[in-house]
Amino acid sequence: MRTQIAIIGVGPAGMFLAHLMRQAGIDAVVIERRDRAYVEGRVRAGVLEPVTTDLMHRLGIGARLLREGLIHGGTKLALDGDVFRIDMAALTGGTTVTVYGQQEVMRDLFDAAEAADLPIVWNAADVALSGLDGDRPVVTWRADGVDRTLDCDFVVGCDGFHGVSRGAIPADVLRTYERVYPFGWLGILADVPPADHELIYANHARGFALASMRSPTRSRYYIQCAVDEDIADWSDARFWDELCVRLGPETAAKVVRGPSFEKTIAPLRSFVCEPMRWGRLFLAGDAAHIVPPTGAKGMNLAVSDVTMLGKALVERYRDGSDAGIDGYSARALARVWKAERFSWWFTSVTHRFPTMDGFDRRIQMAELDYIRGSQAAQRTLAENYVGLPMGAA
Ligand code: FAD
Ligand code: DHB
Repeated sequence: MRTQIAIIGVGPAGMFLAHLMRQAGIDAVVIERRDRAYVEGRVRAGVLEPVTTDLMHRLGIGARLLREGLIHGGTKLALDGDVFRIDMAALTGGTTVTVYGQQEVMRDLFDAAEAADLPIVWNAADVALSGLDGDRPVVTWRADGVDRTLDCDFVVGCDGFHGVSRGAIPADVLRTYERVYPFGWLGILADVPPADHELIYANHARGFALASMRSPTRSRYYIQCAVDEDIADWSDARFWDELCVRLGPETAAKVVRGPSFEKTIAPLRSFVCEPMRWGRLFLAGDAAHIVPPTGAKGMNLAVSDVTMLGKALVERYRDGSDAGIDGYSARALARVWKAERFSWWFTSVTHRFPTMDGFDRRIQMAELDYIRGSQAAQRTLAENYVGLPMGAA
């Protein structure tokens, strides 16, 4: 088999890129190690920046997003139960974010892929990359016990943090930067109305909590927990009690309790690898970088990477220019590092760290109080939250 672009992984990075390639008339094949039901069942991000919603509309897959997406012009912060609002739209000249689950985005991408007959290989085992430093890269895998080979011009590794692509870059070229946080997020989904029509990021002496949603009838809540927490110790009743303490009495009075139908613990990590290109391999999304979820940047960064890369590949095939693909790594990393900084900072000011003493706690409280009282600080938060410009991309 032969194609122009081999894409590894059907997450947001891989699927958005596959659609971008199709729109430009460039052949691409996506190779995924799981099946569609598994991928569609993964509960992940919930807040879309304009970089993501704009791309969905440009690709013609935004109809359901327009109907069901919840536009948020503001977000709330709480310090020990005291809630204040950041008017993101007013502070950014009208920019808003959209609450629409990553699962819904994936469903829209897969439905459109099926309608357009985009080639996706599911259940590909032992995916391996070779020839990346020459002109003829090759991707191999096994499906139904049969070995398969795909020749291509370029490989794009969109296979997430645990994928194979990053490891294909030689160790003496690859540089990695990492912070592992000493806590995780315990998240639930429940079919109950959200406590508030906007998100509430809560810093409490007992730890962080986040009130989010998926729709007017479905709530998504998170609380900071220990990384080695046993989920079996968290009954729904214990979760709701702890959530309400951390959100504070004003918000707790509006929390509607109900049975959870999803409950998972996610670790928190910051990670960046450089470069994001080696020979004929490009990396995009979680394959190259991870952010802690505070600020909801993970999926949006995956989309901004492939928006830049898609444009660069089109320039290569349409205009014969390598300028775009040669500049991809530096351009993507410039935006990635700013999102890393914001996600690290927002995590630092909202979470309880095990090593924190009274001084650290007072500094955190002072920082949140400063944000509450300063337009300048609020604008800085707002412009990062809605997503920084794509630059020359
Ligand atoms: P992924 O979505 O990870 O997709 C990678 C794909 O590659 C997967 O389908 C995988 O099966 C496939 N793959 C992996 N290895 C191979 C291989 N060897 N061969 C072939 N295919 C392979 N972000 C937020 O903003 N808010 C959140 O609340 C949030 N929660 C999260 C919870 C979890 C458990 C995880 C893992 C991530 C979460 N994120 C969250 C981050 C966000 O979901 C990711 O940033 C986003 O999915 C990145 O998209 P991606 O396409 O780069 O990678
Ligand atoms: C959600 C997740 C986030 O990480 C975040 O910052 C906001 C919302 C969510 O899953 O709804």
